[in-house]
Amino acid sequence: MDVIICPDDATVGRQAAAKIAQVVAAAGPEPVLGVATGSSPLSAYAALAELVAQGRIDLSKAWVFALDEYVGLPLDHPQSYHQTIRRTVTEPLGLDPARVKVPNGAAADLRQAGIDYEAAIAAAGGVDVQLLGVGSNGHIGFNEPTSSLASRTRLKTLTRQTRLDNQRFFDSLDQVPLHCLTQGLGTIRDARHVVLVAAGQSKAEAVRAIVEGPVTALWPGSVLQLHARATVIVDEAAASRLSLADYYREMLANLPGWQKVVW
Ligand code: F6R
Repeated sequence: MDVIICPDDATVGRQAAAKIAQVVAAAGPEPVLGVATGSSPLSAYAALAELVAQGRIDLSKAWVFALDEYVGLPLDHPQSYHQTIRRTVTEPLGLDPARVKVPNGAAADLRQAGIDYEAAIAAAGGVDVQLLGVGSNGHIGFNEPTSSLASRTRLKTLTRQTRLDNQRFFDSLDQVPLHCLTQGLGTIRDARHVVLVAAGQSKAEAVRAIVEGPVTALWPGSVLQLHARATVIVDEAAASRLSLADYYREMLANLPGWQKVVW
């Protein structure tokens, strides 16, 4: 696992975008990108939009797969992840909407919707690079604590903590859906590269647990320790509980040239 500590969230976003651009450049004409919703990846989307505008990354034929969708919200609800991905990813990056997929949380048969989503990812050739945020309880996607480390796209129940964390997007806690359809930890692990971004003190404990704690379903993001190409990019506040922070800084400062990702 590579850990990159940045002075602020804007730098987190630029580092993540640079890493994604590096993978995309090597992936061929139809790269497959995995994207997340929430606040954490917004700085990365802003930086990616800049790279697109400068012609330094070509996403015109990219396939894009979101991690998750609420169950119980109409797909045209402003806080549905269909609409969130359209506003924060598809439009700013100038993507082809027909190539941007979000799990169908409104499907009558959610089990089948999960199977279909896995099949769509496989048909696109698998995810080249997956961008992730992390919940304050360590979830990635909406794989809440005790999710199977081998899980695939399926229905999950959100924890009260996650619903409280996401209440800011709704008028009240009652309006935050209780269920979601989310890629599994096994699905996420299949991505060829994974980039996790986190900023702020509220993520410090989760970052410590998933980077330096044991691999455990209690901190689902810790499964990334089993991934051969996982990069964790955090700001100083999110890094504040890492015991080996000085080592990560020293490693980054002394990377051999061929390993450097340059913005
Ligand atoms: C969203 C997702 C979640 C979020 C996490 C952090 O698609 O999969 O794992 O990344 O809940 O959310 P923010 O970034 O809003 O703190």
